[in-house]
Amino acid sequence: MESRWHAVMLVILLGCFHTTVNAEQQTLSPENLLVITAATEETDGFNRFMRTAREFNYTVKVLGLGEEWKGGDVAHTVGGGQKVRWLKNELLKHAHNKDLIILFVDSYDVLLASGPEDLLWKFSRMRHRVVFSAEGFCWPDQRLAPKYPPVHTGKRYLNSGGFMGYAPELVEIVQQWKHKDNDDDQLFYTKIYLDKAQRTKFNMTLDHRSRIFQNLNGALEEVVLKFEKARVRARNVAYDTLPVVIHGNGPTKLQLNYLGNYVPMAWTHETGCGICDDDLLYLNDLTDEEMPLVFVSVFIEQPTPFLEEFLERLTTFNYPTSRMKLFIHNNVVHHEKHIQRFWERHRSEFPGARLVGPEENLQQAQARTMAVEACKKDVECDYYFSIDADVAVVNPDILRILIEENKPVIAPMLSRHGKLWSNFWGALSPEGFYSRSEDYIDIVQGKRVGLWNVPYITQVYLIQGSVLRGRLLQASLYSQDGMDPDMVFCRTIRDQGVFMFVSNRDEFGRLVSSANYNISRLHPDMWQIFDNPVDWKEKYIHESYSKIFEEEGGMVEQPCPDVYWFPAFSERMCDDLVETMEDNGGWSGGKHTDERLAGGYENVPTVDIHMNQIQFEKEWLKFLKEYIVPVTEKLYPGYYPKAQAVMNFVVRYRPDEQPSLRPHHDSSTFTINIALNSKGLDYQGGGCRFLRYDCKVEAPRKGWSFMHPGRLTHYHEGLPTTQGTRYIMVSFVDP
Ligand SMILES: *[C@@H]1O[C@H](CO)[C@@H](O)[C@H](O)[C@H]1NC(C)=O
Ligand SMILES: *[C@@H]1O[C@H](CO)[C@@H](O)[C@H](O)[C@H]1NC(C)=O
Ligand SMILES: *[C@@H]1O[C@H](CO)[C@@H](O)[C@H](O)[C@H]1NC(C)=O
Repeated sequence: MESRWHAVMLVILLGCFHTTVNAEQQTLSPENLLVITAATEETDGFNRFMRTAREFNYTVKVLGLGEEWKGGDVAHTVGGGQKVRWLKNELLKHAHNKDLIILFVDSYDVLLASGPEDLLWKFSRMRHRVVFSAEGFCWPDQRLAPKYPPVHTGKRYLNSGGFMGYAPELVEIVQQWKHKDNDDDQLFYTKIYLDKAQRTKFNMTLDHRSRIFQNLNGALEEVVLKFEKARVRARNVAYDTLPVVIHGNGPTKLQLNYLGNYVPMAWTHETGCGICDDDLLYLNDLTDEEMPLVFVSVFIEQPTPFLEEFLERLTTFNYPTSRMKLFIHNNVVHHEKHIQRFWERHRSEFPGARLVGPEENLQQAQARTMAVEACKKDVECDYYFSIDADVAVVNPDILRILIEENKPVIAPMLSRHGKLWSNFWGALSPEGFYSRSEDYIDIVQGKRVGLWNVPYITQVYLIQGSVLRGRLLQASLYSQDGMDPDMVFCRTIRDQGVFMFVSNRDEFGRLVSSANYNISRLHPDMWQIFDNPVDWKEKYIHESYSKIFEEEGGMVEQPCPDVYWFPAFSERMCDDLVETMEDNGGWSGGKHTDERLAGGYENVPTVDIHMNQIQFEKEWLKFLKEYIVPVTEKLYPGYYPKAQAVMNFVVRYRPDEQPSLRPHHDSSTFTINIALNSKGLDYQGGGCRFLRYDCKVEAPRKGWSFMHPGRLTHYHEGLPTTQGTRYIMVSFVDP
């Protein structure tokens, strides 16, 4: 028993031993592997390919760099023969190296997903001397399809974008090339393969099931990302293989870009972004004068909320304004006053600034072309920065950061507050419109942080001047009749093989929504509390408001028993509200009869305008809910306001109109009363007295709000305004 068992073991061991010392296996060592590729230019795709090759220490020989491409427009038609000619010459050097294994791949649209050992192991398992990649389309001559040996599973037809084999066979194959540079390389190899004698002689096969080569064309559904520890592979789920060479042949360049954002170590769950710090450029040591010159182009193409704030932010960039050349295209008459004010204050800071207003009647595409061409034509222009008026940049380092990322075209990732709406698309639909990539939400929400090669960016981006004057030199970036300029822009850049990145490595700001912007209103930003809540808060809420919640009693005073006093509105809100009311002019006469009320009768009438007269009621209730309710809950613990209010109005007190208000209760659980202008400056007198405590508040602060119970304890009166006009905003909450 025992000896027989040993004998079996010995056979197994010998078997193993035999395969490891087998002559063929022995030659499959990475020292005997050479990767050859062809590229006339170091495109972004080429650099990506080389990066993946370096990750695995492949030895790569590049043919054709710096030479003129004569191989035809392979993206649209046949061609590519020039690659075979180069290979023919190159392989002559290796004709006698019988152990050498050569992997030939394209480079502009190829990624390597795994290392030489894995590749060679897979190659040895194919048990052939020459292996070509396979795909589902018979190209360039469909008539050859029936000549192919049938396959049970897998792709049937040869693709010449990737093949591998022993040098002696490959040398003989390419020596047969006698054609022109723009003849088709794939047809050449196909004919050899389809010739049974040659196929046998060279011991050729196709990689039908993507063990080594994954051609993406026609196979997109088959390929998914496979996240492994600290690396990412592409997995073919149809054949359950992990291919080594990923080829974005045909119209699959964008899917390759997507895979390239991960494969092999560009981004992993464990290590995050693996390529982000590879190409950084540092500006730290430069003096102001040495900083790159940036052409900053601003586009105001439609009425946009918070435009004054937008313009003001341009002056807060942490970048020397002497190295920024400002161009503003404003196509909106409504915004001329805002630009005028900005221009008056800041023009001198921006030497050589240029403003093109609505009177010049430029289409958006023309304006964008004018601006970008200025950079293209000026060798001094190091970067072109394009920013639309609906971009709220809150990171003053934006220019430095984007320059330092050192990418040909890069957009800072921005989204609308709390929304998935952003300034990039992760994928394109077949028609070229928005399509959601699998990682889109994770990128927008910052769950995956890095630099993302994407098909579409908009609203704000930086382009390297050298790229504009290089690969984009001949390109017309925006103009094309009737098409959206941003779509034309992105398509042009994609077609030139230039990569567009979006970065969410830093917090840059947010997008402003201009969807519901009604410029018939005097101060339309006031109505933006729903669409642009963050911008609204910055503009209209008192800068100390948040301090109310900081520490015990932080920003809250109690001038009379249970009368609280706290900052609510910004100066700007006070002014805009008063101006809106005066502009509306529908002041009630301070009479008892009041047809605005359900009962038609007001017991304690004031000269006032109700919020619904200016169509601001919805917005006002939102303000109560967002900003007053939290204060109430803090100051009157245990009371949870419903924040209902029908009586919301601005009151006007004047000596010659209605100067004061007799003692009264309010029809509210609690009342808020916000001073809209300043005692001493705008009026004299005024104030409020609570009779039960004989307590007066005589110097209300502009923008500060009182909050007090409406009934029973807080019987109160408005003290006479003796000079000027006093305005207050009053709201009876939870009547
Ligand atoms: C590549 O080579 C370097 C230096 O020889 C080595 O440190 C590294 O581990 C190698 N990487 C791989 C993936 O083999
Ligand atoms: C190809 O070569 C392998 C050995 O490398 C051999 O086992 C196989 O039979 C050959 N196939 C053909 C079709 O000649
Ligand atoms: C826009 O504002 C004007 C003036 O306030 C108003 O009459 C009109 O109803 C508003 N339009 C919309 C759609 O809200």
